[in-house]
Amino acid sequence: MAANKKAKMILDKDFKIGSIDKRIYGSFIEHLGRAVYGGIYEPGHPEADEKGFRKDVIELVKELKMPIVRYPGGNFVSGYNWEDGIGPKDKRPKRLELAWRTIETNQVGVNEFAEWAGLVDSEVMMAVNLGTRGPDAARNLVEYCNHPEGTYWSDLRKSHGYKDPHNIKVWCLGNEMDGPWQIGHKTANEYGRVACEAAKVMKWVDPSIELVACGSSNMRMNTFGEWEATVLDHTYEHVDYISLHTYYGNYENDVKNFLAKSLEMDEFIKSVISICDYIKAKKKSKKVINLSFDEWNVWYHSREADKQIEPWSIAPPQLEDIYNFEDALLVGCMLITMLKYADRVKIACMAQLVNVIAPIMTENGGAAWRQTIFYPLMHASVYGRGNALQPVVDTPVYDCQDFEGVPVLETIAVEDEENDALTIFAVNRDTDSALELECDIRGMDKYRVIEHIVLEHEDIKAVNTKDNPYNVQPHSNGNAAVVDGKVLAALPKLSWNVIRLSKA
Ligand code: AHR
Repeated sequence: MAANKKAKMILDKDFKIGSIDKRIYGSFIEHLGRAVYGGIYEPGHPEADEKGFRKDVIELVKELKMPIVRYPGGNFVSGYNWEDGIGPKDKRPKRLELAWRTIETNQVGVNEFAEWAGLVDSEVMMAVNLGTRGPDAARNLVEYCNHPEGTYWSDLRKSHGYKDPHNIKVWCLGNEMDGPWQIGHKTANEYGRVACEAAKVMKWVDPSIELVACGSSNMRMNTFGEWEATVLDHTYEHVDYISLHTYYGNYENDVKNFLAKSLEMDEFIKSVISICDYIKAKKKSKKVINLSFDEWNVWYHSREADKQIEPWSIAPPQLEDIYNFEDALLVGCMLITMLKYADRVKIACMAQLVNVIAPIMTENGGAAWRQTIFYPLMHASVYGRGNALQPVVDTPVYDCQDFEGVPVLETIAVEDEENDALTIFAVNRDTDSALELECDIRGMDKYRVIEHIVLEHEDIKAVNTKDNPYNVQPHSNGNAAVVDGKVLAALPKLSWNVIRLSKA
């Protein structure tokens, strides 16, 4: 057995990064695969409520304490006519859905989705179609959703049985418009102009809304950087956030390299902040544009299987990644990375929520269960509220295929002043040995460990399935303790740790 490695860190209440916006624990439901149909909505399922929503799924989503959920796409939104999904269900058209080559039945639309979001105590983040449509359809949707009454669209909503406005606050101006795969793909100048005009009229309908402009689909796009700068040049005074998207995969089957991929996410965030601030300086603006990391996850397991799916079926099993234990560790590293930028990353959505690259899986007509990646998201959302603290970290490092100097210890701390709680989130990336952590908690010497949650597994490829849903799950037998004002803990090799402290 390899000798344990050692890491030291210092935490101080005064080393604040910023207040964590709870919306960074958001998620995403797209009209794609079985996310909506067979995921959140399945009339006739034994667990369905009178509206057709699966109560077993609602219960699992509630465990995530998910504050915001992006809808209805994704690539789907760029060909979507939102009017298809309102009014009597038997009158709604079936359409060829070109982004994912399926048939969309429109049995769920904006009203049903807003209702479902209410059931899981979540706010909706609505995307508008800037692919095949533009400012006119976008402003009508804002009016339909948010205007109280007395106009064509608001009265139509009322006539559909929704007396109160949905009051949707956050709106995405299209989706991944830099990508050639997108319906209505645009150059940065084309998109910047239409996003600016859509933003103006949407805010004129409801000045209280916040808007997210599309950034790059990932930082490997050839247009990355220039895209953000051009789009913000057009839209700076009209939008509030710029989006980031990224997905990682362990194609090379190299766990050390895979777990280091959150370093690329770190670089991505840092670069986008710099671009936002460059445009701010250039425009001599007082306004700060924040980041909405509204698609992030591991996505690669299902890519081959998806090529075999016949086009033009209803809700086929698309993008159904079955996540293993190492995926949960990278998801933990990605959550920690976003928390390190709590002052600028204000919204984030794990993509997606149910069945489609998701923490929750279901069987049509059958069970629902938690995938491995469910756990780090749930822990961060439940225990990661308050101020992010900047730890001073002294950790061993390693080199791998794509990265040099990868920290073995990936960590962040969150202080919840209201509840006198301090939580340390930590991943030990070491594949061979436990990491002996010594953490100086300056000025918080009255704190005691109340729980040390650990997610570990001897098999990095272990998964949860319908027949073995608890194969990978956390335990609370970690050994963290406070000794002489220091938190001492052995973080098992390849583990996700949540060390919860409270004032004694
Ligand atoms: O989340 C799956 C897809 O990934 C989304 O539809 C798209 O925005 C991204 O490319």
